[in-house]
This record gives sequence, structure tokens and C-alpha cells, in this order.
Amino acid sequence: MPLHITGAADAALIELPWEIPLSAWPEEHIAALPRGLSRHVVRFVRHGDGVLAVKETNPEIAHKEFEILRELERHHAPCVHPVAVVSGRTTPGGEELSAALVTEHLSYSLPYRALFSSALRQGTLKRLIGALSVLLVRLHLLGFYWGDVSLSNALFRRDAAEFSAYLVDAETGAMHPRLTDGQRAYDLEIATTNITGELLDLQGSEDLDESVDPFEIGERLEKKYHRLWQALTEASTHTSNIRMRIAERVRELNELGFDLDEIDMQTTDDGTAIAIRPKIVDAGYHQRRLMRLTGLDVQENQARRLLNDLDEYRAWRGGDGDEHYAAHEWLTAMFEPTVRAVPRALRGKLEPAQVYHEILDHRWYLAEASEDDVSLPVATASYVKNVLPQKADEKAVLGRSLAEMTAELPALREEHGDSYERADPYVNDNTHGWGGVPEPEETEPPTVRRQSVLGAASAEGDAASPRSPASADAAGTPATAPSVA
Ligand SMILES: Nc1ncnc2c1ncn2[C@@H]1O[C@H](COP(=O)(O)OP(=O)(O)O)[C@@H](O)[C@H]1O
Ligand SMILES: [Mg+2]
Repeated sequence: MPLHITGAADAALIELPWEIPLSAWPEEHIAALPRGLSRHVVRFVRHGDGVLAVKETNPEIAHKEFEILRELERHHAPCVHPVAVVSGRTTPGGEELSAALVTEHLSYSLPYRALFSSALRQGTLKRLIGALSVLLVRLHLLGFYWGDVSLSNALFRRDAAEFSAYLVDAETGAMHPRLTDGQRAYDLEIATTNITGELLDLQGSEDLDESVDPFEIGERLEKKYHRLWQALTEASTHTSNIRMRIAERVRELNELGFDLDEIDMQTTDDGTAIAIRPKIVDAGYHQRRLMRLTGLDVQENQARRLLNDLDEYRAWRGGDGDEHYAAHEWLTAMFEPTVRAVPRALRGKLEPAQVYHEILDHRWYLAEASEDDVSLPVATASYVKNVLPQKADEKAVLGRSLAEMTAELPALREEHGDSYERADPYVNDNTHGWGGVPEPEETEPPTVRRQSVLGAASAEGDAASPRSPASADAAGTPATAPSVA
């Protein structure tokens, strides 16, 4: 059978060395990025400006997974983007090779094993489980049965102080018009078993913080899942104030990051009350609002944080004016100059929205420590100088104390002032040098960057306050990511 590529209209795909087993592809094609555990051979391959993930498997499975990913994508589910299936591969000697599923490498994403170096800590783990339960609820709402939910089969992106989870392995999945309670329960059971197993493995290799109980965490997913499912789908019954109840229900869903298009109302059988049930829920409430206002496409919690900052900016410049106009001003006076102030060489470290979020945290810490206001340009300069360059190096990060950083604030104020200058050094470059996949380090092992490194504790719920760091648990160490070939 001749070589057959189904999927992307990308002629250059044919130039990859499909006649060689993936495990033996020349290093010049390979991108050294962290990868999770897998059954199949999976490798990252440089291709044009981007990076592809190539998985060798049998042709039926490759095609099935490709179709499922396509369908999930049509429903805007968070998953990797399918590019092509390559089949009919043979060596020059005529020996048959496995088919390959090609997906786009999900930029800035990390497998869970790359999120820690010495040990996976309770707080990080809880966030991972939180993100995974949101993902599972979203998939179940679409009628997708996953069949192999695990930490390894998801990818995680930093999303302000939280993580967002993306489905990476859809091999066992299937789309149904609607899932039965039994199917959902079974998927959850598999999830609990898999996650407990993954954590026991980590415990066995002493990669799990001692305070973590693998069984408790396994069950945690189930609890979070049920809470969310209930909030999104169950009917509530009311006898009075129906309008207010509906508004409350909508607000509650928005707070959870979901948007709703319809609400179903029914009088109870005896006619004394009204049951309301949200009908169509879609994740990404803050994401869409920020997109509408500014055109920025970021993740949900990042959007929440940026919207808070925008609201604060709007209040500071006095008020009620047009929201769209204020958003435009905020974008050009605050967000864009901050993002541009990051030197190009450091831009592969974190997504722009994540950097902005971290700078807001950094500003808060500096303001607390110096008991004085710190302008955004000053906070940015301090962050770019003291935090970002050293994210990959634990000792260096921890070596600079908050006291040292506050001591230099007067000099930074002198240099950077209260607001950004309006000049745009990258006026012809509307990406400002961001975007694309971070350049993999050539010789260093893959490293992972952390949240704010300053580590002061903050209460849950702080995320809502624009000037407070959303969480400090993720303060910690850069990681070396194991990879499986
Ligand atoms: N598109 C992608 N972007 C980023 N990482 C990916 C991508 N595809 C696969 N990976 C990495 O490869 C690992 C294994 O992929 P997976 O599809 O789970 O293989 P298997 O079916 O063999 O378990 C994942 O955990 C993930 O780390
Ligand atoms: Mg897998």
C-alpha cells in the first residue's frame, strides 16, 4: 500500500521521514519538549514554524482517534488539534511500519509529571484535579465518553493561579447523543482508579509529597465532578421570587465560568412551585467576555483576572463611561505595553496573559512589602529583571529576597515612572514576538516555570480581588521533566 496522508492540506507533511520507524527519526526533526507517559511511541517533531506530536499506532485506531478529535473540536471541546493520519508506511526494504496519528503540539502545555521536580505537592495536585473535573464535566455535557480518564491522558496549561486541562488521548473515547448516568459513573470510576494508580506510582518512586493520600485525591475528582455537574444541570424548585432566582442561578453559573443560553421552567405537578433548570451551558464565560471587549483570546481564569484588572482600571480612571472604550484604553495603556516590556528572549517562558497575571501578583507583593503603591511599569520592570529570567533556576529565584527587590524600587520608579510611554518599538509586528511554541532548550533538560515565586499565603477566593495574588501554593521549584520514548 502506498503512503497515504489523510487530513491536513499541508503538502510539507510528506517530506517527513515516514519510511523510518518513529523511534529512529533523526534528531534534527525532534523537538525536546516534556512528554507524558504513553503506551505507544510518541515524539515531537519540528515542522515549519510549529511542532507536531506524532504517535505510532495501528491504522484503525489512528483513524478513529483522528475522527473523535475532529468531532470534539467541532464542539469547541478543549483537546489537541488533529492534523493527519499517515498510513501505508513502509521501509525502503519493504517492511511495513505502524500508522501515525499527527496532532499539533499544544503550546505552553505540560504533562502533569513535568509540573514538579522533587515531589508533586498537595496544592498543585488539587488544582490538577480541579482542572480535570471541569474537563470531564465539559466532555460529558457534550455526550463524550472518555473511557480512559487519567492524569497522563490530559495536558495542563497554566491558567492564572489554576490550571486548565485538555484532552490528549481520545483512543478509547466515543461520542454519544447523550450520556446515561451509568456511563458517566463508569467514566468516573475509571478516572478514580487511574488517578489513584498514578499517584501510587509517584509515591513508590518518592515523587509524591508525603502529606498526599492517593486514595483521598482519587475520590476528590468524583466529589468535584458531582458538585459541578449538579450546579450545571439540576433543576431547583422555587415558590416565589422567580426572576431573582433565575438571576441568581445565572450568576452562579457565570461564577463557575459557564455561560447559559437557555433556561427551562416548569410548574411542579401540584402547581405550587416552579422548577428551573439550565439547558445549554457552555464553558468560557469570562473568556468570551474578554474576547468581546478586547479581542484577547486567553484561558478562562486568565480572562477572569484580566477582567478584574480592567474593571479596576475603569474605576480608577473614573467610572461609568463606555465599557468598550475603557477596554480599548486598558489594552493599549496597560496590557500591551506590559507584554511588550518582556524582552523577546524571555517570551517563550510563559504565555502573555500568564505573564500579565504574574506581574499583577508581583506588584501586589511589592506594594505589600514597601507599604506603598507600585505602578505597573515599575512592577513589570522588577518582574522582568528579578523573576522571569530565573524561572528555570531554583536557586537563583530563591536567592533574591523581597527586601532586596523593594530596596531597588526608588531607582525603578525613577526609571520607569507611573505609566508607560506610548511608543511602540514593534509597531510592525502585531504578535509582539509572542505566539508559536517556546524554543526548546537545546542542551538543558526541559524545564517548567512556576507561578509567583514569592510564596506568601493567601486565602481562597482572593483571585477575585484584582490586586491580590490568586494563590501562592504553586510557588516552588522548576522541574525537570521525565519523558518516555
Ligand atoms: N498534541 C500534543 N501536544 C502535546 N503533548 C502531546 C500531544 N500528543 C501527545 N502528547 C504527549 O504524549 C503523551 C502520550 O500521548 P497519548 O496520546 O496519551 O499516547 P498513548 O495512546 O500511547 O497513551 C501525552 O501524555 C502527552 O504528554
Ligand atoms: Mg495515553
